Amino acid sequence: RGKRAFIAGVADDNGYGWAIAKSLAAAGAEILIGTWVPALNIFESSLRRGKFDESRKLPDGSLMEITKVYPLDAVFDSLDDVPEDVKTNKRYAGSSNWTVQEVAESVKQDFGSIDILVHSLANGPEVTKPLLETSRKGYLAAISASSYSFVSLLKHFLPIMNPGGASISLTYIASERIIPGYGGGMSSAKASLESDTRVLAFEAGRKHKIRVNTISAGPLGSRAAKAIGFIDMMINYSLANAPLQKELHAEEVGNAAAFLVSPLASAITGAVVYVDNGLNAMGVGV
Ligand code: NAI
Repeated sequence: RGKRAFIAGVADDNGYGWAIAKSLAAAGAEILIGTWVPALNIFESSLRRGKFDESRKLPDGSLMEITKVYPLDAVFDSLDDVPEDVKTNKRYAGSSNWTVQEVAESVKQDFGSIDILVHSLANGPEVTKPLLETSRKGYLAAISASSYSFVSLLKHFLPIMNPGGASISLTYIASERIIPGYGGGMSSAKASLESDTRVLAFEAGRKHKIRVNTISAGPLGSRAAKAIGFIDMMINYSLANAPLQKELHAEEVGNAAAFLVSPLASAITGAVVYVDNGLNAMGVGV
């Protein structure tokens, strides 16, 4: 049978999560999606109304099928963690079973198992603030949504992942080099995510024969990136300075992800793989 993938962090057709879903679908995988609760209604109604039909097109001309969309808020592990104001918030009250543990349980009930887990989500409420001006709350929120969310997802999905399966997340070079403007503790969150990729590769590899890698992606004008405010500058910087002076297409990251979670990459785990037109290799701008 084909592989089954759960992709956390898709709420429109612009981001890396959508592109990864498409590459996996093109390779024959069944697609399940986890969408942030506040974004769920718009995403589902846009899907239904055919707003994404053009971008659902796969290389063979067919349209990507999404078998099921699950509401998800990856900053909450179980119902006990959800504060009253969120429970009663009208954007949340309309959905249920959206904590990480509950989503994993729902997927288990619906499908039994998965082969591929994709983490394509991040959030840093103070991302536009320099680190020196970031509050403890903002910093911890960035880590919670952008790093621990991966630990939690892997922890809860591992028991239903078939041995030989793989997970992938998305990181950014601001973890290891200074990228002014990527603030609010988001650079710290990406450093955690990359370090955790190694430790989790060990733990999930030994325990469940699951591979864990992360893609360090170049700049893309996604919804999340536009919220940071400097994305056009980063795209232009890459165009001017990267070894490959071309636009970076989300599809290129999607294809790399599809490779990394496939048997073609069966000996690759614990790795940070750059998909950035080579920008990471430059020592100076030219
Ligand atoms: P995006 O906006 O398509 O994806 C981010 C998703 O995270 C959104 O769908 C949002 O609803 C979801 N999300 C936020 N908080 C959540 C939560 N608590 N629970 C569940 N979902 C939540 O944007 P993009 O840029 O494609 O982001 C995907 C990943 O790629 C992120 O990890 C990002 O840091 C990473 N990345 C993006 C780059 C870029 O230039 N766009 C560069 C390198 C990495």
